[in-house]
Amino acid sequence: VATTLPEASDSSRGPLPQTAYKHWITHVQTPRTEALLKRAANEDMISFAGGLPADELFPKAEIESAFQETIAEHASGALQYNWAEGYAPLRAQICDFMRGRGIVSTPETILITHGAQQGLDLIGKLLLRQGEPLAIESPTYVPAIQAFEMQRPKFCAITRTSQGLDLGTLRERVRREHPKLFYVVPIGHNPTGSIMDETQRSELLALAQQEKMLLLEDGAYTDLQFDAAVQPMKSLSGAESHVIFLGSVSKILSPGLRVGWIVAPEEIIRKLAVIKQAADLQTASLNQFVLSAYLQKNSLSEHIARCIAFYRERRDCMITALEANFPAQVQWARPASGFSVWVQLPQPTCTEDLLKAAVQHGIAYEPGLPFFPHDKPRNFMRLSFSNQSCERITEGVRRLGALLTKQIPC
Ligand SMILES: Cc1ncc(COP(=O)(O)O)c(C=O)c1O
Repeated sequence: VATTLPEASDSSRGPLPQTAYKHWITHVQTPRTEALLKRAANEDMISFAGGLPADELFPKAEIESAFQETIAEHASGALQYNWAEGYAPLRAQICDFMRGRGIVSTPETILITHGAQQGLDLIGKLLLRQGEPLAIESPTYVPAIQAFEMQRPKFCAITRTSQGLDLGTLRERVRREHPKLFYVVPIGHNPTGSIMDETQRSELLALAQQEKMLLLEDGAYTDLQFDAAVQPMKSLSGAESHVIFLGSVSKILSPGLRVGWIVAPEEIIRKLAVIKQAADLQTASLNQFVLSAYLQKNSLSEHIARCIAFYRERRDCMITALEANFPAQVQWARPASGFSVWVQLPQPTCTEDLLKAAVQHGIAYEPGLPFFPHDKPRNFMRLSFSNQSCERITEGVRRLGALLTKQIPC
């Protein structure tokens, strides 16, 4: 290929042929159902795809006044560059918020990021190397797989179900392959919505300590626990140097703000700040100032309590609809946290194929295949209840159930 390419300095040879750059970009895979889901996205579609918060919960008036106050009183700072680590008063406010979750931190141990997603990318860049093992739950949050894949690690996939993590296999693979990092979503695991129980969480931390492995705890859903609430792993004694925690306001306030944070030992934060600077210099000053103003004037905890009650009702509504409409061979568990229900269909149902028919009936969902780092089964689907009213959940599940009853042989 190299010999047929034009020299960079030679402009007389015309544009780069598509056949050349096609080779260079094949390692980035576009999810197979993305185009279909994008085409299907319209107001009439009852969409259980995506993990979107409910629009009704956005505190619009409070955010509006935080914006006004920011521009009236802090325009020079909010419209200016800031430090890569983040806006200092916001870092202090995040420390206070973390203290409420049992996590002891200082502003120096916090890096403000563009959402928890950027935390995954930055940590991948810092800790992962091509061919080196990364322990990861299977299934797991798809854009985490995408972020880590950029560094070409070797995924050690550890089964996670609604019952918890396959700790026996993790233990064995950690002892054999020595991954530096285990990416785990203990609370509100995406896609199962499960919470790892206390025994598993303390055994996992003990394993990390014994085997000198870091845990990357994704806490995007930590504050949305519908039944009995547990504290994040980062709050456990002994977690300080073994757990990196990712937080975010996306699920509890607004994903449009794009504000998340990393809590980690100070020397890790200092390195991540350098990588963050290379990526985007800093998180948008304006958004950080607005969040800071919002937190000063409002009780985020009270808002979170409203969110929990709201999503609990939608979860219950979806479970009731599933029980009433889905064939008996289909399995799911009631999620204790998160935005969705993880559904297992009998083999050989292919949820990617089924999606085309579902879209024709006005329903969208996420096929389960991309949630697996490898050995991808085809018979799972993720149904998000967060962004649809109870009426639409009931109607959507009824239509999907009718479709499944036709497709699945009894
Ligand atoms: C488990 C998990 N982690 C991280 C994220 C990313 O969140 P953010 O909007 O803060 O980047 C999501 C979003 O859906 C998620 O489900």
